[in-house]
Amino acid sequence: MNQDIAKLRRDYLTAPLRRSHMDPDPLVEFQRWFASAIEREPHEANAMTLATADAQGRPSARIVLLKEVDRGGFVFFTHYASRKGVELESNPQACLVFYWPDQHRQVRVEGRVERLEVEASDAYFQSRPRGAQLGAWASQQSRPVASRSELDDLWASVQDRFPGQEVPRPAHWGGYRLMPSVVEFWQGRPDRNHDRIEYRLEGEGWQRSRLMP
Ligand SMILES: Cc1cc2nc3c(=O)[nH]c(=O)nc-3n(C[C@H](O)[C@H](O)[C@H](O)COP(=O)(O)O)c2cc1C
Repeated sequence: MNQDIAKLRRDYLTAPLRRSHMDPDPLVEFQRWFASAIEREPHEANAMTLATADAQGRPSARIVLLKEVDRGGFVFFTHYASRKGVELESNPQACLVFYWPDQHRQVRVEGRVERLEVEASDAYFQSRPRGAQLGAWASQQSRPVASRSELDDLWASVQDRFPGQEVPRPAHWGGYRLMPSVVEFWQGRPDRNHDRIEYRLEGEGWQRSRLMP
């Protein structure tokens, strides 16, 4: 489809966001948006930008995959000694951004990050393909490596490490859960007159505000 027509469709077929139509719980609202994204977005609707910062407040960001929304938080998996892992250990505040272009939507989530329970990390690790499990043993994510051939050697060296048995989860690999304190839903509208509804945790409850675009 012609790009301009696609954009016009996207803009004019999307109903405006009304605060009163949105669920009082941002996680319930998120699940609705996410279900719609999974249905409509052609690629990895669960890809999200994860922004962290080191102890001095210097930011970094990268894409990771959302694997679950549970116990009130957003779950992803990674290497605990990677750059993001090190930053999260010293500064457990993070921000997630989802972008769903086909629906002209963005969601931003801010909050505190905690490590997932070991049982939950084990269960997810066991659900992964064996090659990915072995990769978690081979890679010291974010560390420099001298060459591609050294990396290939590292991969080769773990292939026979667990012959005929389940690959256990390495202690350096597992999940994090981001517990949201701010969630913003952004819906693109014509003439850049976009809708933005922000949920902010105040005490025990969520307060909603409309923000200017
Ligand atoms: C589509 C996509 C999905 C990714 N998913 C993950 C993921 O779920 N976990 C992860 O550790 N890295 C994932 N990565 C790689 C990260 O973006 C990043 O390169 C890696 O985690 C190292 O980041 P760091 O050095 O900032 O810690 C993904 C990359 C892309 C492009």
